Amino acid sequence: MKIIVVGTGFVGLPHAAVLSEYGHEVYAYDIDHKRIKAYKSGDREEIERYVNEPGLVASVAENMGRYLFFTTDISEIVDGTDAVFLCLNTPPKRDGSSDLSYYLNAAHHLAELLANREQKNRVVLVNKSTVPVGTARLLENIMEEHGVENFGVASNPEFLAQGNAIAGSRRPDRVVIGADSEEDFGILRRVYSQFVNHVRIRYLETTPETAETIKYMANTLLLTYISFWNGVGGRMAESVPNIRMEDLKLGVTSDDRISTWGSYVSNGAGGSCFGKDIQSLIYQLNNAGRSTDLLQAVYNINEYQKTYIIDRAVYEAGFNFNQKTVALLGLAFKKRTNDMRDSAALKVVESLLARGVKAIRAYDPLAMDDARDFWFSPDKNHLFDRITYHASAKEAISGSDALYVSTDWEEFRGLSRTIEMTVKPPFLVMDGRRMIPDFETLVKAGYEYLPVGGTLLKAKAESQKRDNGKVPSKMASELETLA
Ligand code: UGA
Repeated sequence: MKIIVVGTGFVGLPHAAVLSEYGHEVYAYDIDHKRIKAYKSGDREEIERYVNEPGLVASVAENMGRYLFFTTDISEIVDGTDAVFLCLNTPPKRDGSSDLSYYLNAAHHLAELLANREQKNRVVLVNKSTVPVGTARLLENIMEEHGVENFGVASNPEFLAQGNAIAGSRRPDRVVIGADSEEDFGILRRVYSQFVNHVRIRYLETTPETAETIKYMANTLLLTYISFWNGVGGRMAESVPNIRMEDLKLGVTSDDRISTWGSYVSNGAGGSCFGKDIQSLIYQLNNAGRSTDLLQAVYNINEYQKTYIIDRAVYEAGFNFNQKTVALLGLAFKKRTNDMRDSAALKVVESLLARGVKAIRAYDPLAMDDARDFWFSPDKNHLFDRITYHASAKEAISGSDALYVSTDWEEFRGLSRTIEMTVKPPFLVMDGRRMIPDFETLVKAGYEYLPVGGTLLKAKAESQKRDNGKVPSKMASELETLA
């Protein structure tokens, strides 16, 4: 099949690479010349600057020039194309709706080219990135407006998690195709022939509107589940001494109907998808005049979760951040990525600065350059000068009064020794990811430990532990306001 993939970001590039592995002739197209130049170079560092996914560089290297081609001009290629996948960025707007400007520009450009093609073979235009319900229909209208002949539209949402894009594309749990005609389903069956009738992969054919809704529901349900653990399991274990979070997880998720994924309490779920998608779904349901109470609560719980532990440090541990130095470990929204979009660390930094910290000493194994770009850009205010960047966790911790662990990087698991070797108590450890399983040794040595999903622990703390059975009244009223 001859395939064009429009947009070569986190969704488009891995998709194009894996399609080319199956012997399709794939043209990966982007208007960003720098990106295309980087991909064409085949150089690992250049490619990973844009999309950092295990297995991606090898796949690109293997297929480039044979089955995979990069271009900034598709005018010559549209003739004879069977399918065009639209993989464009649809960032959230302030009101929660999706900014479709990149998408619409690409759709109109494509429509003009398709309207003037010589070969009038059937071509299917497929929405791959997450777009509001009804966008396939919108795409159909755009094509008709430009006089495109013999085309179909489809929705084929991607369900990949970052860090697993290549493995996930080679072996998805499901392929969802929403289209209008047997002819278009037929074309996509040939594109995805390796997945049709697969014993373990569900291949679902439905309407475009259903496919679009499946994606929003899937992401929103996952976030609802995470918020349930943070907002219920976490709160119980943070309020009542002697609740063991790990046992709570095991006991509840031993039911086959309840997943372990999503049950690790955290300082909130970040990334480019969950927050954006739930906001968009709220916007879409509001537009339809429907209640969004559940989704609004899920969103609020998740956003507040990102800085909740800082409020607990103030109200439960009595920590005064004013003029203190805080080490911040982990900037990316999850381990194994440099992506900081919607990351808890962004809100943590804002909250710490607002509380008057003297300095924030940051470290992340992958996201340091992105963080520098983010916080150093000229339009950011001078408060961001208080952030310094360090080469290791140890260096960041050195000279600090407190530590905040924000990302679940595996290398942070050995932190208790690093802490003991680097700083003397009094020292407060805020663990937003429960990364310090041997916290007891720390506490015995006099450090204070405040984890998500657990009470404040400090040496000689029997009375303290009892007091923590109650949520401090000031905090209780803050939580009520939030609710
Ligand atoms: C998410 C979905 O998992 C994918 O299925 C979906 O295709 C994708 O969005 C998308 O729409 O493109 P992703 O954003 O890459 O994937 O990240 P996840 O691995 O799902 O993690 C999201 C956030 O939840 C992270 O901050 C993670 O640390 C957090 N999380 C995850 C928890 O706080 N607790 C958990 O138990 C699991």
